[in-house]
Amino acid sequence: MKALVLAGGRGTRLRPLTHTSAKQLVPVANKPVLYYGLEAIREAGITSVGIITGDTGHEVREAVGDGSRFGLEVTYIPQEAPLGLAHCVLIAREFLAGDPFVMYLGDNFLVGGISGLVSSFERGGYDAQILLTRVAEPQYYGVAEIGPGGEILRLQEKPEFPASDLAIVGVYTFSPAVHEAVAAIRPSARGELEITDAIQWLVEHGYQVHSHLVEGYWKDTGRLQDILECNRMVLERVEPDVAGTVDQMSEVTGRVVLERGAVVENSVLRGPIVVGADAKITSSYVGPFTSIGPRCVLRNAEIEYSIVLDDSRVEGVSRIAHSLIGRNVEVSRAAGVSNTHELMIGDHSKIQVKA
Ligand code: G1P
Repeated sequence: MKALVLAGGRGTRLRPLTHTSAKQLVPVANKPVLYYGLEAIREAGITSVGIITGDTGHEVREAVGDGSRFGLEVTYIPQEAPLGLAHCVLIAREFLAGDPFVMYLGDNFLVGGISGLVSSFERGGYDAQILLTRVAEPQYYGVAEIGPGGEILRLQEKPEFPASDLAIVGVYTFSPAVHEAVAAIRPSARGELEITDAIQWLVEHGYQVHSHLVEGYWKDTGRLQDILECNRMVLERVEPDVAGTVDQMSEVTGRVVLERGAVVENSVLRGPIVVGADAKITSSYVGPFTSIGPRCVLRNAEIEYSIVLDDSRVEGVSRIAHSLIGRNVEVSRAAGVSNTHELMIGDHSKIQVKA
């Protein structure tokens, strides 16, 4: 069994972060979302992994390397343009050879790993296996219509009028039969070769496609609110560990991880929180479900339910919440005229200020 991990795509819904960085590398509890997937693959006993990369390929390579850190052997497969998930299978043909494989979308987050999925696929002898989960807005996903006995009747990619609330999770297992399917289908209306169409092709041509309902937690981290939710979920289970220093004026409660070299002075930290190495928090409040990246500086600031990436600075600003702040960002109080916001913001940014 091999794994094919998809780490290309444009990540348009996470701009401006994805102008400079791969969406699969946005950190959740200070660890890139892609790493959780790679760890789950290794846990399922798979070591041979192909990673499909796009424009941000160099960054993914830098982050994952040869995979040995994860106990994996990684082969990189560049995709010249985001031509669809089924196109990824097409270009990975040589790597996959005649082996069955797990296809894992690098921005998907699945609590509970994939060992169960892999062993049920191997036991069942299916041609393909998909995971389904109930979602509030199925129109944003691949959607499955299921018969009374749990059999798949129809799969549709992002239908305008979804036939059910069962979304297709971005983790699939395939036998080599899928190669015939990806070669047979045509691009969708959005110009991509959809894996959903390839699986529908397998269903129509009498192949055995099995579906399994995911009871546990799943998120596609393509949007801000999903990343923040994922961060909350991971932080809820974090083991407290204070390797940094906290002065006597500070109050730290709940599950707090303070990495090496992090310094907390005259501040209130209410977990669950992760603070990265060498970050400095002074005279500030950090509230629940917040991840502060390495080397960040918070001074006279208040923040909660947010993610701040490496090397950023928040100074003199009260109550930031539900926010994702990129790398090397400065957020500070405007000097001079009161009630004025002074902004220099990158393309495609989203700012909501209290007017
Ligand atoms: C892709 C698939 C979709 C699936 C989703 C899960 O969509 O095309 O069927 O439900 O992943 O994350 P994308 O996120 O590429 O738009």
